[in-house]
Amino acid sequence: MQTILVTGGCGYIGAHTIVDLIENGFNVISVDNLSRASDKSLLGIEKITGKKIKNYKVDLTDKAATEIVFKENPSIIGVIHFAAYKAVGESVEKPLDYYENNLYSLVNLLQMTVKYHATHFIFSSSCTVYGNPEIIPVTENTPLQTAASPYGATKQMGETIVRDTAFTYPISAILLRYFNPVGAHPSNAIGELPIGRPQNLVPAITQTAIGKLPTMQVYGDDYPTRDGSCIRDYIHVCDIAHAHTLAMQYSIKNQTTNHTEVFNLGTGNGITVLEAIKAFEKVSGLQLNYQVGPRRAGDIVSIYANKDHAVKRLGWEIKYSLEDMMRTAWEWEVSLADNK
Ligand code: WQD
Repeated sequence: MQTILVTGGCGYIGAHTIVDLIENGFNVISVDNLSRASDKSLLGIEKITGKKIKNYKVDLTDKAATEIVFKENPSIIGVIHFAAYKAVGESVEKPLDYYENNLYSLVNLLQMTVKYHATHFIFSSSCTVYGNPEIIPVTENTPLQTAASPYGATKQMGETIVRDTAFTYPISAILLRYFNPVGAHPSNAIGELPIGRPQNLVPAITQTAIGKLPTMQVYGDDYPTRDGSCIRDYIHVCDIAHAHTLAMQYSIKNQTTNHTEVFNLGTGNGITVLEAIKAFEKVSGLQLNYQVGPRRAGDIVSIYANKDHAVKRLGWEIKYSLEDMMRTAWEWEVSLADNK
């Protein structure tokens, strides 16, 4: 069986991807230092798939510890690299922590990938690399703008580091640019576990609805959009997860090394903040307690994906609707409250 190393395997997208890889016949090993995630995800993965996943509690900025993972697992043929800090606001407060963590880990991991002859490398990138785009939807060829935060800069630099590595060494690299991943696995066994007060929209909605937060704010309704609130491309985390399996299968099938390919992972539908709230209210039957507040610094007005490349080349299909995203996010929040 082909073994895939998933870094950040206990995190939100990592855990969903492990489930999808297992369901498609891959053997998976996880590396997660648990600094931003819980190993409870491993129990959730086991509940869904019946498989126990080995997690190495290793910090990828530690090169010697990273090497042990590869040494002990010579069957690793591919790496999917999720492990990174991802809070935009925190990255402005602690830029050096972000550069150190996100870039040293990537460099170490690539060095080991090359040294131990794993030929497939998938990197978690983000639509944040497009900055404030002039033309939407964005395609993979839309020019990148200056990153709006150190977090975004680590994704742009990360893309360059991966590309340069795959240019020189026999690696097939894929950069996946996620739009706004939301929702949870329909089993309720895994989902998002935000640390502290959620910065992202959907956890803010569900935590307000369950009463963890007294209220939430819509950051601005005076943007030049159809209802004045910002537009994003929300995408179900299981659709994102499956795209990783397809990308790995594509890379294995094509056997093209010294090559990097980029894919947008979004639905192609631009949704306003107020529309997202309405979709939540519809599926939950609740009225959300929210106010319209001022704009949030650094927010992009409108961005959504052109997903044609992933559809055509990977055979990717979107299975979850906006209602499914909101319903599974809400069921996950309710299950967290029930299991307290
Ligand atoms: C979505 C919309 C807010 C919270 C960030 C990263 C990006 C990506 C996903 C990360 C915006 C509005 C939010 C709230 C609100 N990858 N909002 N009230 O900013 O599009 O993207 O997360 O790992 O790289 O930058 O996502 O969920 O924070 O915001 O009105 O309480 O919801 O203004 O319009 P964003 P988000």
